[in-house]
Amino acid sequence: MDAFECIQKRRSVRRFLDVPVEMEKIGKILNAGRLAPSAGNLQNWGFIIVNDPGNKKAVAEACLRQMWMSAAPVLIVVCAQSEKSSKFYGLRGERLYNIQNCSAAAENMLLAATALDLGSCWVGAFEEDMLSTVCGIPAEARPQMVIAIGYAAEKPNMPTKHILEKMAFLEKYNNRIKDIDITLGYTSKSVRKAVDKTKEIIEKMHKKLKKE
Ligand SMILES: Cc1cc2nc3c(=O)[nH]c(=O)nc-3n(C[C@H](O)[C@H](O)[C@H](O)COP(=O)(O)O)c2cc1C
Repeated sequence: MDAFECIQKRRSVRRFLDVPVEMEKIGKILNAGRLAPSAGNLQNWGFIIVNDPGNKKAVAEACLRQMWMSAAPVLIVVCAQSEKSSKFYGLRGERLYNIQNCSAAAENMLLAATALDLGSCWVGAFEEDMLSTVCGIPAEARPQMVIAIGYAAEKPNMPTKHILEKMAFLEKYNNRIKDIDITLGYTSKSVRKAVDKTKEIIEKMHKKLKKE
């Protein structure tokens, strides 16, 4: 499955088969989170694997009683180590980069789960203090999202997604692009030609340099 297929295929799944997930797969998912981009490459995140049925129930309760979560074979609680980013980036780090870094890691994990034929769901609704207590998250860290993972027992349809014309602008905000598919398709073709030509020149240069 290539990246585009994976992005297309990912859906929020909230019903899971009553079978465990191989820890090897959980390892791969966590690794995908580890490799996400982060401001200044701080990587100021922590991933808590919640497997224990009692703990999963307590997490589900902290997530505003979204009890379907307790039936997910694995929950991953993503935490921001907030102090690190505020030390380097002040208020911007604390208010923005913490969230952005963890979100990048979370999306990587959702896509990795999809690539491994697993269902997953990003959960952002929780009572922060309650979740921190359940997972022993110290004051210097903050839970950002919980990811539920397991083999899917449902196949949700793609929910309505807005068309690209509504959100893609050219040069200035709200400057919409008419006939976006045709416009971008056309541009891509001409750019591709230029890229291929440049690559050809570079390759020739490399070969020449090797000979010398
Ligand atoms: C920031 C954020 C918070 C979310 N919180 C929840 C949540 O608390 N519970 C839930 O069931 N789904 C939650 N979701 C999943 C969304 O409902 C879901 O992504 C959206 O309906 C689109 O469906 P899709 O993921 O299949 O494209 C959240 C997603 C995001 C990005």
